[in-house]
Amino acid sequence: MKVGIVGAGMVGSSAGYALAVMGLASTVVLVDHNHDLAVAQAEDIAHAVPFMSSTIVEAADYDGLVGAKVVILAAGVSQKPGETRLALLERNAAVFKDVVGKVLSVAPEAILLIASNPVDIMTQITQRISGLPAGRVIGSGTILDTARFRSLLGRHLGISPQSVHAYVLGEHGDSEVLAWSNAKVGSLSLAEIAAQVGSPITRDVRARIDDGVRNAAYKIIKGKGATYYGIGAGLARIVKAIARDQHDVLTVSCVMPEVGGVRDVALSIPRVIGVDGISADLMPDLSSEEFEELEKSAQLLKDSVESIAL
Ligand code: 2OP
Repeated sequence: MKVGIVGAGMVGSSAGYALAVMGLASTVVLVDHNHDLAVAQAEDIAHAVPFMSSTIVEAADYDGLVGAKVVILAAGVSQKPGETRLALLERNAAVFKDVVGKVLSVAPEAILLIASNPVDIMTQITQRISGLPAGRVIGSGTILDTARFRSLLGRHLGISPQSVHAYVLGEHGDSEVLAWSNAKVGSLSLAEIAAQVGSPITRDVRARIDDGVRNAAYKIIKGKGATYYGIGAGLARIVKAIARDQHDVLTVSCVMPEVGGVRDVALSIPRVIGVDGISADLMPDLSSEEFEELEKSAQLLKDSVESIAL
């Protein structure tokens, strides 16, 4: 399977590296308006390949995307310290107007996997520009926030994050919703597991975890300028669900007809992903407070997408 990546900056190249580590694609093609950067990143990743898989990693122009099953869109600018994801909207929308048509002219059958921020709005813009069915335009959404939530909960409880079933919904951004009410570890509710392992989830613990999830990117960007390993692995995880037709449940962003009273908006809920992209949306059972927060998040995204002329 061929996977294309448009945008060979830190996010795109980290996704390429994660794909090569996981041996998920036969070929990974990096495309960037700075061709020298794409060549350098592809070579660097290709030199790691003999240690772990047999994936071919190369740089190319858009023509190199012919036959790609998935194309990851990681082009555009990323946040500077203190900047919100929504502040990137106009600049990245302009980039996508150019990129999406070029990708589809050579890879009309591809599933588009959007990574650039603000990712929910970029997902909606891509779906509109491309005219593709919503399930073939997938935003990385809150896949990373969900991983951060599971990691912090797991660390508090002394349990592997892979055994924590908890989801972050809504915007991949400041208004995201941590779905505490239906989080589970194994088959136990959070209250039950916390009592059994003797690590209660107090109001302070909850506030610390909420802050750790919601503000993770701001802290990392302050410390090292960008986030990329986490999202790179998250993108590779989504590609795995597609490549192996796994029907995995992952929190990704996609345009949906309605959330509460808000129509036609892209945001994250758990979704089933396989070879054709998204095959089902799984709206979780939320507390009324969480559902209200999700509606607010949807409204905020809807207002932002309407602010941009397409
Ligand atoms: C992240 O959450 C910045 O959206 C990026 O790591």
